[in-house]
Amino acid sequence: MRRGGEPLGADRVSGDAWKGRDVISILDFSRQELESLFDTANGFVGPPKPRKDLADHIVATAFFEPSTRTRLSFTTAALRLGAKVIDLSPDVSSILKGESLHDTTKMLEGYSDLIVMRHPSEGAALLAAEISSVPVINGGDGSQHHPSQAMLDLFTVRRLKGRIDGLTYSVLGDNRYARSATSFLYGLTKYKPKLVYVVSPESLRPRLEITKKLKELGLRFELRSDLEQVIGLTDVLYLTRIQKERFPDLNDYEKVKGSYKLTKEVLSKGRSGISVLHPLPRSTELPYEVDSSKSAAYMTQAHLGVPLRMALLLKVLGGGKA
Ligand code: CP
Repeated sequence: MRRGGEPLGADRVSGDAWKGRDVISILDFSRQELESLFDTANGFVGPPKPRKDLADHIVATAFFEPSTRTRLSFTTAALRLGAKVIDLSPDVSSILKGESLHDTTKMLEGYSDLIVMRHPSEGAALLAAEISSVPVINGGDGSQHHPSQAMLDLFTVRRLKGRIDGLTYSVLGDNRYARSATSFLYGLTKYKPKLVYVVSPESLRPRLEITKKLKELGLRFELRSDLEQVIGLTDVLYLTRIQKERFPDLNDYEKVKGSYKLTKEVLSKGRSGISVLHPLPRSTELPYEVDSSKSAAYMTQAHLGVPLRMALLLKVLGGGKA
């Protein structure tokens, strides 16, 4: 289908050219396009009203890895807009008979108007987008990209703080393998944060390709190891779990597991008004005791996934307004 950076015609002139686009990486979208998405999503927050904007459309979900939030919030978003949803369940599909990603994608393009795909292999969604004549939204490819999550995270910050620019962020956790953290950092490059602390144990620092890209795009960031040194300066704390499933060697996971945790005591050292985001699912890094804090914003964040993805589907499939 059509990717960012290709000639887009008159809509590119207005800086908002969503219709028919693949959504593979947040890097493919301009700040203006993101702001337009968030404006549309704002119109979907609150009690849902029955809508028929996408009544003639079928959305296919194809998740080759487990998911609760991404799969179900896309499904809910599509249903709330009147679309129908078909789900490829890899464990009962012909993938078990050896059918390729190529042929699976060719089938889905014939059965649907848009494909949301999650896959353990980096580049899988991009490959599907190259094969498919209908738009593909990357629901996460290995350790690489999770664009709709990053859009959701920025949207959440904008709703909580009224702005994304000028804030100090700490991105704590598995900054090596967590695609949500990488995508959030990539998303921040579209804005002007005051400073971003990228906080992790040494072995979970971002891969060289990520820091290179952040520098190239001019993000002001510092690599740190100790949250307690920066939490007092932080407006938004973005936390991720250690992605055990991505470690090539489980011995390396064993060495680092449990190495950071946001307890209530640590959070109490934070700035008043600090907001804690987490893409979820969580593990031991975010104990349940934090849920009662007024700073805990991760459940709100997860729930905003529906309005944000309603806006995303509407823009890619219809280009309409909320
Ligand atoms: N945040 C996120 O991607 O969650 P799921 O893995 O449940 O989709």
